[in-house]
Amino acid sequence: MTTFSVCLTGTKYGCGGGGCGACTVMISTYEPASKKIRHYSANACLLPICSLYGAAVTTVEGVGSTKTRIHPVQERLAKCHGSQCGFCTPGMVMSIYTLLRNHPEPTSEQMIAALAGNLCRCTGYRPILDACKTFCKESICCQRKANGKCCLDQEDDLFDNKEKVSTSLFSTDEFQPLDPTQELIFPPELMRMAENQPKRTLVFHGERVTWISPVSLDELLDLKIAHPKAPLVVGNTGVGNKAMHTLHFHNLLVTGLTLGAACSLSLVKDILTNAIAEFPEEKTRVFCAVLQQLRTLGGEQIRNVASFGGNIISRKSTSDLNPVLAASNCMLNLASRGQKRQIPMSDIFADGVGNNTITPEEVLVSIHIPYSRKGEYVAAFRQAPRRENALPITNAGMRVLFEEGTDIIKDLSIFYGGAVLTTVCAKQTCQTLTGRHWNEQMLDEACRLVLKEIALPGSTDGENVDYKKTLMVSFFYRFFLEVSQSLKTMVNYFSCNSLTFQDPCHFPGIPMEYGSVLKDFKTRMPQSIQIYQDVGPSQSPQDPVGRPVMHQSGIKHATGEAVYIDDLPPVDGELFLAAVTSSRAHAKIVSIDTSEALKGAGVFDVITVHDVPAANEFYFSDDPEIIFARNEVICVGQIVCAVVADSDVHAKQAAAKVKIEYEMLEPVILTIEEAIKHNSFFEPKRKLEQGNVEEAFETVDNIIEGEICIGGQKHFYMETQSMLAVPKGEDEEMDLYVSTQHPAIIQVMLLHLSYFSTGIRSNQFPTESEPTEDLVKSKSCRGDCYSITSRAVRLILSREDDMVITGGRHPFIAKYKVGFMNDGRITAVDAKYYVNGGCTPDESVLVAEVSLLKIDNAYKIPNLRCWAYVCKTNLPSNTAFRGFGFPQSGLVTETWITDVADKTGLSPEKIREINMYKKNEQTHFKQKLDPQNLIRCWNECMEKSAYCSRRTAINEFNKQNYWKKRGIAIVPMKFPFGVSTPYLSQAAALVHIYTDGSVLLTHGGIEMGQGIHTKMIQVASRELNIPMSSIHFCETSTTTVPNACASIGSAGTDVNGMAVKDACQTLLKRLQPIIKKNPTGTWNDWIKEAFKQSVSLSATGYFRGYNEYMDWEKGEGHPFTYFIFGAACSEVEINCLTGDHKNLRTDIIMDIGCSINPAVDIGQIEGAFVQGIGLYTMEELKYSSEGVLYTRGPDQYKIPAVCDIPEQFSVSLLSSSQNPYAIYASKGIGEAGFFLGCSVFFALRDAVTSVRNERGLKKTFALNSPLTAEQIRANCADAFTEMVREGEEGSV
Ligand SMILES: Cc1cc2nc3c(=O)[nH]c(=O)nc-3n(C[C@H](O)[C@H](O)[C@H](O)COP(=O)(O)OP(=O)(O)OC[C@H]3O[C@@H](n4cnc5c(N)ncnc54)[C@H](O)[C@@H]3O)c2cc1C
Ligand code: FES
Ligand code: FES
Repeated sequence: MTTFSVCLTGTKYGCGGGGCGACTVMISTYEPASKKIRHYSANACLLPICSLYGAAVTTVEGVGSTKTRIHPVQERLAKCHGSQCGFCTPGMVMSIYTLLRNHPEPTSEQMIAALAGNLCRCTGYRPILDACKTFCKESICCQRKANGKCCLDQEDDLFDNKEKVSTSLFSTDEFQPLDPTQELIFPPELMRMAENQPKRTLVFHGERVTWISPVSLDELLDLKIAHPKAPLVVGNTGVGNKAMHTLHFHNLLVTGLTLGAACSLSLVKDILTNAIAEFPEEKTRVFCAVLQQLRTLGGEQIRNVASFGGNIISRKSTSDLNPVLAASNCMLNLASRGQKRQIPMSDIFADGVGNNTITPEEVLVSIHIPYSRKGEYVAAFRQAPRRENALPITNAGMRVLFEEGTDIIKDLSIFYGGAVLTTVCAKQTCQTLTGRHWNEQMLDEACRLVLKEIALPGSTDGENVDYKKTLMVSFFYRFFLEVSQSLKTMVNYFSCNSLTFQDPCHFPGIPMEYGSVLKDFKTRMPQSIQIYQDVGPSQSPQDPVGRPVMHQSGIKHATGEAVYIDDLPPVDGELFLAAVTSSRAHAKIVSIDTSEALKGAGVFDVITVHDVPAANEFYFSDDPEIIFARNEVICVGQIVCAVVADSDVHAKQAAAKVKIEYEMLEPVILTIEEAIKHNSFFEPKRKLEQGNVEEAFETVDNIIEGEICIGGQKHFYMETQSMLAVPKGEDEEMDLYVSTQHPAIIQVMLLHLSYFSTGIRSNQFPTESEPTEDLVKSKSCRGDCYSITSRAVRLILSREDDMVITGGRHPFIAKYKVGFMNDGRITAVDAKYYVNGGCTPDESVLVAEVSLLKIDNAYKIPNLRCWAYVCKTNLPSNTAFRGFGFPQSGLVTETWITDVADKTGLSPEKIREINMYKKNEQTHFKQKLDPQNLIRCWNECMEKSAYCSRRTAINEFNKQNYWKKRGIAIVPMKFPFGVSTPYLSQAAALVHIYTDGSVLLTHGGIEMGQGIHTKMIQVASRELNIPMSSIHFCETSTTTVPNACASIGSAGTDVNGMAVKDACQTLLKRLQPIIKKNPTGTWNDWIKEAFKQSVSLSATGYFRGYNEYMDWEKGEGHPFTYFIFGAACSEVEINCLTGDHKNLRTDIIMDIGCSINPAVDIGQIEGAFVQGIGLYTMEELKYSSEGVLYTRGPDQYKIPAVCDIPEQFSVSLLSSSQNPYAIYASKGIGEAGFFLGCSVFFALRDAVTSVRNERGLKKTFALNSPLTAEQIRANCADAFTEMVREGEEGSV
């Protein structure tokens, strides 16, 4: 659908693997027998077009458009501020729309489930869910009853009544009602076709594939004989759909339920739900266990098309269904021509993967799920890197049948998934334990036997084998608890003299405090509140500054009309580029063989270093950045050459045929430790020092030393890096459309390559996506392609290539030594930061410098010394990312604060308070600081989060729950604003007024979701005193604003706002004489008159930039203009058996001066916070020992999803805060909220501490970032982790 021929570009392509939901569409089918229309959401990227014969596909364009009518879903998403960059938005619209087609008044559970398969990197989901709530049956109040009040009535208490505050960012009164009668009808011609056309075999022939849709099982079986190697495609989620209607049934039999193999997983879910409601509990235990897995398996889009049979037959180790189905004695009904047979499900795993139990001619017709019997218990478990829409790390299915009325095991079955290549059975363990009582001795033996029997191979994809083993035994323990609890309530009935008596079985059950672990975390619709200061009563109603104005492109995002580079219409003769990247981390290029690639269909040329007309390099810092690898490659993913072809597919196919011969070079340095060993660093190394650290260490009561490792992070912008170069046809000029935060630098690079670019345009952009130098290279190589082809060239990176080629946030290792007094005063800190810069310098030294400048976070440390070393390694070059070094540096600081708390026995918040900046002071680089608003944020956060009472409640919860613990943490933040170099904050704008009174505005800032264009229009509206509707924005381009600085460091609004204001004031000044003469005239009158008087109606505006500097020799300066303050309090609950956690509540207070647009600013805070949760708790990059990235897409790299945001989420903007240094007293807010995500990290640490204290474990312990489930589990050491450790020792 996104192909040029159809030109429906609203459906986005974010990953191509079903993992992001950006491509969601609605499929509608008509079933003539029942006369029912079925609507379901599906991932377009996985849908074979041939499978849609007879189906209606609705894309976002079909839902509504600005040209016809926008749909309430689109309207509400935009007006509730649920769209920033908008790349995810069409997918979100389609998921919600499909749900509403089926359930016009859904429950909040249905709504939240519908969004589980849609990722958003910008918004933090809260505003999207706010829009969703307006369609739900339930009240949209926060339902927060902690103080007996809900958000709708607690406003009065929360604030100082002098301040007029608001809690509403949108008005529901504006919304059009949802009217199901207005929806598109199912196309009558398709209905007629389904009813009247006899079923016939469909055959489609393609370039490489033939698709046959048989109409009967017999025909399918014949085809299987004829084409034994052809895959049987059902949902195509495993192969890479045809609903086989003949395999699409379900029957209730006396022995259980038989489900057709082609039933979608969603249908299976519905059937099981109904059966559970219909039958007694005793009979439905298998159904419940299967349903348990289905709730979190994939997203709704996947479950709607993925078939039951496909999941089973694939025999993947990650199947969540196979372990529980196999353990439950399910049967498979197979058919081949002339033959039918039934086999136990467990047989297909008997000899490991690839066994020949099912022949190539056979088809799985149906699966029989038996009823559970009296005395039989079944359970299924899974642990994944993210609770929903993530393949499992390990899962399990377990079943036990007892001798009647006893706790003696009659039959036991244990299957695991995720452990080895396919589902495995702990057969010997089960046999050994048969006949045993269900008690602690059996449990102990079972765990040891399982660990012995299921041999896990060494890790091949960066996964921790010990964690998997721990999960295996922990799952069994959980099963043990569940069954023990059920045995306790088991009652035997016996008859005597025609009377029935009850005989309670007297099994001990489980301790009360173990009970909560039997309940899994559930995703509930989060409740949220946003609080900001209203504009003053004297402000004109037309003046939009300070009001929650909708994102200027919100509606275009929601209708799919916003144009991204991939959506730009095809240019005549356009070619496509595919990069060929290095597969070696450090090697000499011996040869590049392009002969096969050149023979490929549609190939135009292969571009190598020899085709670069000028120097094959450009300078970003002192060291050159290479465009195409010359003789040597220095990381996996480095661009070696590129194929240009007539289509994207042809370019990629040919790129795969380029053969590069390498000779490995030594050393291959991937980690910080290896860089230290090889003394491999970029210069300069930086140091800052204040006070006398050595002397201070002499006088302190205590010294601690520690170390923390912080992993990197991928930007994971939803729109991958992309660009289009269009030759102008003369003077070697071209227009370049690129995804960059710095168009001017791209222009400089092209000039360097001897091209004159007439315009570098930045289109719609993803979330905080900073270009990496590697991509800058590919942008530059575009110039070369154009030179050779003289035709337009387009490059859209696949998600995988994007992740492999680009760098990301820098991994850090920090070593620290902290001296403090017994009362908690920290008087000396000596810290060393090692930063993994990757293979070229990029901005890594700047990142290291910022990390030193921000090391103090909110604390006054009188004697402080810190170093930063940037390691040169063979990884893709790491680069700028939201927060620019502060998220890592701040985490280190808060870690040693927490260590001091552990050592002194004081609480972390006490240590924070004791050491916080309190009065006008100087930072460690001698810049003045007024911390008044820091303290206000802290105190308000303490109060609004009810920290003290919740601390007490958590302590009580932790006493009453052994396997689940809660934790809480409150973290303050001082986020210095500035880019440390005066000329890097200059900005310019261009404003035209047309004679009809309309205004066209442009400036040098890049819109990447942060709402800069919206805010600039607000600024112009205030300055010119005209409504926003009269002001239009023109795309950012080097033709209108030359030499614009990069949009970085939260400074976009600050600096461009000043430039826009300047331009508007220039224009107003010119208009002043006319206005004075006709004060009662209208804007249009004045403009017309100005034109008549030949007054220029076009002006540029300029802002010189801030006076920021830093003298690294002296270690002092004024690198920042002002400070943003904040505080966040987060509460979490962990499951000690799995390491899983749930974010229960977060309260954020942020001082952002006078917000220009509270909706946009709160959106930035929340979006950044959730991205921060990603960095600190889940986003984990895994590399092979050869430097190959394993985590290349949403399947392996997990960014936060809807299930990860706090169940209660409140953001308040500090009232009465002024900032004399920025436009309208506002503060730049793009980055600051990110760091507050670490409050979740420390809340998790608090929960783990509580576990360790209860178990008498060693007090000090170190946690690294991301604090994944694996780490949490490892630090909640218990008998099970001990067994795994012992097993390891035994096996050495
Ligand atoms: C993004 C994403 C997330 C996922 N998350 C999970 C998860 O969390 N847990 C989980 O368990 N799974 C997960 N899956 C896997 C998914 O459940 C399976 O891919 C799906 O069930 C396979 O069904 P299908 O109809 O798509 O199979 P297809 O892709 O159409 O076929 C898969 C294979 O099965 C064969 N086959 C299919 N039906 C039959 C039949 N009736 N008889 C004989 N052979 C047959 C085909 O020939 C093919 O080899 C996920 C998949 C994706 C893409
Ligand atoms: S593009 Fe289809 S799910 Fe990501
Ligand atoms: S708005 Fe969701 S990814 Fe940008």
